[in-house]
Amino acid sequence: NHAIDLSAQSIAQGLFPGAATTLWSYVGKVGGREAINPLLRARRGDVIDVGLDNRLSETTTIHWHGLSVDEANDGSGLHALAAGQRRRYRLRIDNRAGLYWYHAHPHGRTGVQLQRGLAGLLLIEDEEELALRARLGMRWGERDLPLMISDKQVAADNAIVYKDGADDWIGNRVLVNWTPEPYLEVIPAWYRFRLANVANARLLRPCFQAGDKVLPMQLIGCDGGLLERAWPIDDVFLAPAQRVDVLVDFSALAPGDKVVLRSLEYVAMENEDESGAFLPDPMGDHPGAAAMGDALDLMELRVIDCAPRDRPPARLPDLSAISKIAPLPDTGDWPLRALRLRMDEQGRWFINDWNFHINGHEPAFSIKRGSREVWEIRNSMTSMPHPIHLHGFQFRVLSRAISPPDIRGRQVAPGGLNPQDMGFNDTVVVWPGEIVRLAIDFSQPFTGTQRYMLHCHNLEHEDMGMMLTFAVT
Ligand code: C2O
Ligand code: CU
Ligand code: CU
Repeated sequence: NHAIDLSAQSIAQGLFPGAATTLWSYVGKVGGREAINPLLRARRGDVIDVGLDNRLSETTTIHWHGLSVDEANDGSGLHALAAGQRRRYRLRIDNRAGLYWYHAHPHGRTGVQLQRGLAGLLLIEDEEELALRARLGMRWGERDLPLMISDKQVAADNAIVYKDGADDWIGNRVLVNWTPEPYLEVIPAWYRFRLANVANARLLRPCFQAGDKVLPMQLIGCDGGLLERAWPIDDVFLAPAQRVDVLVDFSALAPGDKVVLRSLEYVAMENEDESGAFLPDPMGDHPGAAAMGDALDLMELRVIDCAPRDRPPARLPDLSAISKIAPLPDTGDWPLRALRLRMDEQGRWFINDWNFHINGHEPAFSIKRGSREVWEIRNSMTSMPHPIHLHGFQFRVLSRAISPPDIRGRQVAPGGLNPQDMGFNDTVVVWPGEIVRLAIDFSQPFTGTQRYMLHCHNLEHEDMGMMLTFAVT
């Protein structure tokens, strides 16, 4: 089914024991049943047609995160839908297979609207994906599962709390696929998980732990789909908006064993401004929440018995025979665009000299369609990790310099690249002090002027104006 009607509306949901929680969500009929934030599924090459009926009392949109679409259908705040209005998005799916997502994106209100629930997943499939799935012998929804992770600040009356003008909104409750205290029964076999961080601001470092033993994973994909080989990893930094595709082996476990999907402790490198002074502690607004960088349990996996004949064999196919991506381009003659992330004395975030609220919505720069550029994004030495997201185009990470030790230690390729950098991405974390270079090909099948956003996907930073518009002409 390639047409769906969604309405953005407020809906009472019994998420936690006790009183219902009011969510703002995209509600639509799937297979005759009303679904909240339905998972959408499409083939590369398909056209999908999504109606949006805004039944909220404020402006909203649906942004198609990671998709290469035209401005009118990108769903950024440049084309917001007023309360009470309807529109349609027409998306020609031109992206590689992978897990993408959709979410609200109105100027200055993205943080509150996502915290309240306006986000869902979009799975894209193509020939490569189907070939891989056949060789893995895993069915989507059985041992190949999406895990959409977020945290919410929930009050004693089960209401989701959000403060306007908030900074780095983190929460005291974890939801996986909109479920609190989530658990999954697994059989002793290989599993494939598509992890998506849809939190407002919490950067995660997920791993699978059995007792105190970290189970090795194979990283096989990131934002823009499959990698060309599997990379063994123990854990991965997953910033807001990022996705990873991992295989993990539970076959050595026995029925009754427990595994925890846990975000490991890490050095958060935040709360410092340029002068090195500490910003006000945001924790006062988040009673009961783990601080950024603290360990956090996300989900429990309970190993159950299964008949030996149902135990699928471990078959790890050679990805390079399935997934083809062009090698990193030689960017020697590509023009370089320098972008610096910084905060001013008043605590306002900027990309170079642009703050979306101060400098306005007009394009900060224009790029010729079909041209190719290297973007060099530099973070300040004393700052925070910023997950920088580009609309409209998937990019390759070319290099990382001056990375913090925990990033440097993950290097698997020249230029400081870590396994997540080995494919296409739409969001990249630029750590304090880091200089990250991206290779971006601005080819697209559209004509005329198309405007897109570049912004920090820490939604509070975005809402505070750490965002700019650029034009492709
Ligand atoms: Cu996922 Cu501009 O956002
Ligand atoms: Cu986006
Ligand atoms: Cu930021």
